[in-house]
Amino acid sequence: MIISKLPNVGTTIFTRMSQLALETGALNLSQGFPDFDGPQALRDAVGRHIAAGHNQYAAMTGLPVLREQVAAKVARSYGRMVSADSEVTITPGATQAIFCAVQALVRPGDEVIVFDPCYDSYEPAVELAGGQCVHIPLALPGFVIDWQRLQDALSAKTRLIILNSPHNPSGALLSGAELDQLAALIRERDIYLISDEVYEHLVFDGAKHASILAHDELYQRAFVVSSFGKTYHVTGWKTGYVVAPPALSAELRKVHQYVSFCGVTPLQWALADYMAEHPEHVEELPAFYQAKRDLFCDLLVGSRFSFSRTAGTFFQLVDYSAIRPDLDDLAMAEWLTREQGVAAIPLSVFYQAPPKDLRLVRFCFAKREETLRQAAEKLCAI
Ligand SMILES: Cc1ncc(COP(=O)(O)O)c(C=O)c1O
Repeated sequence: MIISKLPNVGTTIFTRMSQLALETGALNLSQGFPDFDGPQALRDAVGRHIAAGHNQYAAMTGLPVLREQVAAKVARSYGRMVSADSEVTITPGATQAIFCAVQALVRPGDEVIVFDPCYDSYEPAVELAGGQCVHIPLALPGFVIDWQRLQDALSAKTRLIILNSPHNPSGALLSGAELDQLAALIRERDIYLISDEVYEHLVFDGAKHASILAHDELYQRAFVVSSFGKTYHVTGWKTGYVVAPPALSAELRKVHQYVSFCGVTPLQWALADYMAEHPEHVEELPAFYQAKRDLFCDLLVGSRFSFSRTAGTFFQLVDYSAIRPDLDDLAMAEWLTREQGVAAIPLSVFYQAPPKDLRLVRFCFAKREETLRQAAEKLCAI
């Protein structure tokens, strides 16, 4: 009998809910991916590069032209000049980037602070490195960091803190002032950061994303992770990147070169072309997704769900207390999928110890207008 290294890991809730949606024919507002395609010019570019023979291994650190595009975007968006050679690494997805950063840093016995509700890939990566996650619940209702709890959780064993802003599943944003507070808290300690910023361009109502890349002090000890999949509506391409100071990038690359060696070559070429030709794409993203959020929320105003509009990401949390207070959120997500024809993700799965009486589920609004209208019609009929 094999003794599992990850005894607590099963099939993720995202796979399970998407599968259930498929089986039942429900509209899938569960897993976080668009039901529309990425830009035509971007998709065409892949075919062009495959035809042109760009089909062999890329450089281990990523295609130089793509790393240069990332460096240029970092300068435009956050005012930081980073070296495309020594500070930018292209990876097969943000998940792999996070995995490599964790393996590069965490040793047996180390503690890693994560904030619940938290993305599900962090903890298995830490466990495989021999470390242990210390879960700190974000304070409700705003899903904000409880600074006292964070301070109390810090110890000589704390090696790493994993941040995620804009935050999946709540959509909450960290502010520049909060980053300053974090800097003050860890200034005298030997603690590193992974900043999961895959939703960096999905911020609404005129807000500005407070990236670690814009924070001089915190950047010095950070791996900042993003995902082309999220930004260019091509999640199945599994292509992402990490920006980190040279010494940290060098350690990350030691792991990355033995996990995958490099990302997929023609996809990197296509992304580099598209980024060069369409720098406006990222600037237009907030308005693009805000329109989807507002359409979905305006329609849901007629429902018995209660919610406040998400500040970032393409997720909307809704409270269903007025509809089925008798159901916990796992049962509610299943009921919504099987009986009401709309798949959702329960919130408790993002917690080590979910708050009692949590009555929230998450919908993904990265969907075509007709999908959102059909889903809202079903949800309003409940
Ligand atoms: C917070 C967060 N981090 C990372 C990822 C994974 O990104 P990628 O598909 O590029 O691995 C996701 C995808 O849902 C996410 O929500």
